[in-house]
This record gives sequence, C-alpha cells and structure tokens, in this order.
Amino acid sequence: MTMTFHSATLKDKDTIFEWLDNPHVQEFWDNSPQHRQDIENFMGGRQTRSPYFGGMNSYWVGLLDNHPYAFIITHEESEKTDPPEIYKPYISKTGKTFGIDFCIGSKNHLGKGLAAPTLKAFMHYFIKAVEPKTDIFYIDPFINNPRAIHVYQKAGFKIVSEFTQQGGFFDQSKGVLMIKEISSEQI
Ligand SMILES: CC(C)(COP(=O)(O)OP(=O)(O)OC[C@H]1O[C@@H](n2cnc3c(N)ncnc32)[C@H](O)[C@@H]1OP(=O)(O)O)[C@@H](O)C(=O)NCCC(=O)NCCS
Repeated sequence: MTMTFHSATLKDKDTIFEWLDNPHVQEFWDNSPQHRQDIENFMGGRQTRSPYFGGMNSYWVGLLDNHPYAFIITHEESEKTDPPEIYKPYISKTGKTFGIDFCIGSKNHLGKGLAAPTLKAFMHYFIKAVEPKTDIFYIDPFINNPRAIHVYQKAGFKIVSEFTQQGGFFDQSKGVLMIKEISSEQI
C-alpha cells in the first residue's frame, strides 16, 4: 500500500470536482463556485489573481497505489498573512506554519482507516518535498465533526483552543484549533 501526493493539475479537475459533489464532503467543505474557481485557477498555474483568500491556497491530490482518493489544501500563515487573533500564538517563530484542510474525497476509500495515516504521510511528504522549514501544522475542524477531530488526534494534532468562524461559507460555526509541532526527529 503506497501513498503518494502531487500538486493538483487540470488533469485532476473532474475527479476533484466529483469529490466536491459528494454529500460527505459538502457537509464540511466550502462548496461555493468561488472555491471551485480558485481550485481551477491554481490548477492552471495561477495565471490571474484569485480573489478567493487572495489565492493563498495550494491544492494536493493523494493517491493510494496510484488511485486518487484524498484532497488536501495547504496555506501558509505568518505575521504577513494577518491570521485571526487566536491563531497568532501558534505561528512558528523558528520555521514555517501551514494550515491544512483535508478530506477523503473518494467514497470507495471512506471509512477504511486511511485518514490518519494519509495525513501523516502527507505532512512527511510536504516537509521532505515541498517546504522543509515547516515546523507547525494546524487544522481547524468544526465541533460538529467529531470524526475529523478524532482522526486528527490520531495523526498527532492537539486541541489548543475553540473559535467561532467569522465570515465565509461557514460563518458563525464553532470549531477547534488543533496544532501539530514537528520536531527534527519526526521528519
Ligand atoms: C474526516 C474524514 C477525513 C475521515 O476520514 P474517514 O475515512 O471517514 O476516517 P477513517 O476511516 O480513517 O477513521 C475514522 C475514525 O473516526 C472514528 N469515528 C467515526 N465516527 C466518529 C464520530 N462520530 N465521533 C468520533 N469518532 C468517530 C472511527 O471509529 C475511526 O476511528 P478509529 O480508527 O480509531 O476506529 C472524512 O470523513 C472526510 O473526508 N469527511 C468529509 C470532509 C471533512 O469532514 N473534512 C474535515 C474538515 S476539517
């Protein structure tokens, strides 16, 4: 069983958009046309400026034995990106901080115990192949998503605070901020 990852390209568009149509994804993910436009903008190499969070998201596809099944978003947070107040204490002072959004997009791979191992494998890939200076990842599931919270704890994330979403697709939803610090021994 081999997990691999690549940056999303236009070849992945139909697969990703099919995943975004799945009810289990729509329950917790932004399904707005603006989000889809941003994904397409990224897949096309960001030739034009994206208004969706300033085009700060990068999109990744996870494959299990060459079959696509997971969809991941990363976005860097720093003093420059002006994150919400509750995130500021967790911005790394020694390296880089990346937020993650995660889903098992493929219905055939859902509920098979793949989520925590995939997230761990992705963070390993990201540090090795994309941004070696990353030493903090964060993830911020909603409180009404205990399955995701459980899986993230299994992947080594710890709850550090609670928040209420201000604006966006899930305005006023309550969530938890979860942090994973990466030590050099873990890489
Ligand atoms: C959250 C998500 C990634 C989990 O993937 P998955 O394939 O369902 O998860 P897995 O099969 O790997 O593991 C599920 C674990 O959650 C547990 N679980 C299931 N329902 C649960 C619940 N209501 N409360 C707590 N734990 C629950 C399972 O028992 C299992 O734990 P175990 O391995 O310790 O037995 C997936 O459901 C998903 O993509 N959902 C839609 C998008 C989403 O919610 N993303 C997170 C947004 S932050």
